[in-house]
Amino acid sequence: MLIDGERVAAASGRTFDVMNPATGEVMAKVPDAQAADVDRAVKVARRAFDEGWRDVTAQERGRILLRLAEKARAETKTLAELETLNSGKPLAESEFDIGDVATCFEYYGGLATKLHGEVLNVPDNALSMAIREPIGVAAQIIPWNYPLLMAAWKLAPAICAGCTMVIKPAEQTPLTLLKFARWFEECGLPKGVVNVISGFGESAGAPLVAHKDVDKVAFTGSVEVGKTIMRAAAEGLKKVSLELGGKSPNIFFADADFESAVDGALFGVFINQGEVCSAGSRVLVQRPIYKKMLDAMVEKARGIKLGPGLDPASKMGPVVSKAQMERVMRYQEIGRKEAKLAVGGGRPKDPELQRGYFVEPTIFYDVDNSATIAREEIFGPVMSVIPFDDEKDALRIANDTQYGLAAAVWSRDIFKCLRMVKRLQAGIVWVNHMQPTYVEAPWGGYKMSGIGRELGPWGAEEYLQVKQVHINLNEQPIGWY
Ligand code: NAI
Ligand code: MG
Repeated sequence: MLIDGERVAAASGRTFDVMNPATGEVMAKVPDAQAADVDRAVKVARRAFDEGWRDVTAQERGRILLRLAEKARAETKTLAELETLNSGKPLAESEFDIGDVATCFEYYGGLATKLHGEVLNVPDNALSMAIREPIGVAAQIIPWNYPLLMAAWKLAPAICAGCTMVIKPAEQTPLTLLKFARWFEECGLPKGVVNVISGFGESAGAPLVAHKDVDKVAFTGSVEVGKTIMRAAAEGLKKVSLELGGKSPNIFFADADFESAVDGALFGVFINQGEVCSAGSRVLVQRPIYKKMLDAMVEKARGIKLGPGLDPASKMGPVVSKAQMERVMRYQEIGRKEAKLAVGGGRPKDPELQRGYFVEPTIFYDVDNSATIAREEIFGPVMSVIPFDDEKDALRIANDTQYGLAAAVWSRDIFKCLRMVKRLQAGIVWVNHMQPTYVEAPWGGYKMSGIGRELGPWGAEEYLQVKQVHINLNEQPIGWY
């Protein structure tokens, strides 16, 4: 782990195993952080903030971020291979992710000098200002689906804003962040500004969130843990941002470009093995093209080649863990009872693949929106296809969910698209596309999909607080009494 610029073991000396999901074999042992390690890391971050980092100029913070970007880009091969080995995803996807890591640091490197306050027009002879200041020490809890990228989404805006932090990668996928942390010092990050601890949710994540020296908590993961974190953060009235996934509708009208539709539906839910918070896991198809589109999707899904991520022929890797595989298989079982199975529905038969945590790309159709597979986030390659009649019907089904992270609409009728855009209850709406994510654009959910926004200036705002400054220019007593 990295605490105060030093590579350290857990105080207890304990470690835990990190698995390669393609083989089910142990690939590394990492420190198993407990409350004592968390306490040490938070105190270091507190001191680093109070004794220096808060006075480092925005220019210097920007330069550090640009060096981190350059380092990520220069080490793409190393980081992408490690990401694939640890998370399972195909190498081409890991390379794409590391490119996004670099872009994220670059964006916030540029933004650091553009954050500023305002001068206000108060009705008095005064100079009144709203200035932005870093909130202090941030606790950041990372999921396993985009291990280094989700870390970058939290590190970059926090460094940009001038915070110090303790970051905990997911227990399944700590390796790329631990690797990247080895280069912090050469990129000019002062000791103690970013501390990385590896550990489990309850033994390391929970004490981190609850620590009294933490001012802000940022989390990406399950709704259940999101609620627990918000409750824990309430005790210290900490600022909280939560990104909690969804059950996003991917809506296809009959007048959509057919080839793009088929492609967009598959990409929306099978990319990254379906382990995507914004996965378009509910595919809503208008009745006139329902059968034709289902057949075309099934045919293409049969051609998706499962295999270890490092094999360039693999189009889909294993899911991240045995637990996740079992979770997905449970939903496949539920789906068989609730709807009709078109393709997949289990594990691949190939004995080589049976060693790892592979599950087949699966399509269920004639799914009712009240079905479990239409309501619960599966976080695996499982698509639920739901027919609809018209615009009103599509909207009703799309919005009938506790979630509201993303939604997509496909049609050549711009007016229909815009009416949908206005009424969809989601923090992100795509038209004739699925999943494009840009660091310039806000990312976050409506309803149970979360609180706050990542990326863009919104992402930096989560790590800032506003101070009002009023400077009286009258050299006279107030004169009230
Ligand atoms: P999780 O929410 O338990 O884990 C995410 C992170 O939170 C990990 O770093 C974990 O160590 C940490 N954590 C767990 N319990 C904690 C606690 N009490 N206090 C502080 N930190 C804690 O997710 P899990 O169990 O790995 O996956 C279950 C489901 O959650 C998935 O099937 C998926 O539906 C959803 N999920 C959504 C993600 C998203 O991108 N929105 C990412 C990961 C999971
Ligand atoms: Mg969990």
